[in-house]
Amino acid sequence: MTGPMQSVEQWDEFVAGRYQPGKEKEQFRNYRAEANPGVTEFYRQNHALQTMDFVLAKKAEFGPHRRASMGIWEAMEYLNTLVDESDPDTDLSQIEHLMQTAEAIRRDGHPRWMVLAGLVHDLGKVLCLWGEPQWAVVGDTFPVGCAHSDRIVFPEFFEANPDSHHPVYSTEYGIYEPNCGLDKVHMSWGHDEFIYQVTREHLPEPAQYMLRYHSFYAAHREGAYDHLMNDRDREMFSWVRLFNPYDLYSKGADRPDAQALRPYYEDLIAEYFPAQLAW
Ligand SMILES: [Fe+2]
Ligand SMILES: [Fe+2]
Repeated sequence: MTGPMQSVEQWDEFVAGRYQPGKEKEQFRNYRAEANPGVTEFYRQNHALQTMDFVLAKKAEFGPHRRASMGIWEAMEYLNTLVDESDPDTDLSQIEHLMQTAEAIRRDGHPRWMVLAGLVHDLGKVLCLWGEPQWAVVGDTFPVGCAHSDRIVFPEFFEANPDSHHPVYSTEYGIYEPNCGLDKVHMSWGHDEFIYQVTREHLPEPAQYMLRYHSFYAAHREGAYDHLMNDRDREMFSWVRLFNPYDLYSKGADRPDAQALRPYYEDLIAEYFPAQLAW
């Protein structure tokens, strides 16, 4: 895998550590020290290289989705082949993370489409299997084409991003109108935007928001970028915030039995998705 982390799960674990429930603000400031060098180097690359030009190029490259035709379950099994050079005994496989997220949502009695959002939310990480570097697949996402908020983790690394010195992209609103709505805003490229593009026409709007913005921590956790949101975004972000703890904290000691759960999830998948999707 191309990147400074041993696996993309290291990024997920880093974020969960940052937002550990009950963690004090002072402890929170220490997260940088706790970050291992691989994660820090990963953010250095991500923040320097996710530019407006890069995002537009990736949207053009992956927009038409012609790499693969796969059903959802097939994509889950394919993603599972990403696991795991590093730590096969303790690390949960990708499929288990998806199932634990979905099962925790199901246990709390949320709508079926939200359970399904939990099941598919990280399938965009198949980008890793097609040779995309880690910095272009995972990481906190943020708008491009306007100034980087200092509420994005490791904001100092944006100094190395050429857009930070661009006459328009470096301004508060950049290329955008005030409260234009996030649908008009280009986000840094990664697994969130990709899975949103692949699944959008089959899922209700709150699920689309959950998939598209689940790594947009500067907004859903830190309250940044309200000046680009419209009222629809603000309403929908209550769903994104409802979703986030299931993504971060559903890792449990009991590993889900994927084969036992498969009939339930195959039914759920068939309720919303065609047998094959274009990826
Ligand atoms: Fe994710
Ligand atoms: Fe996740």
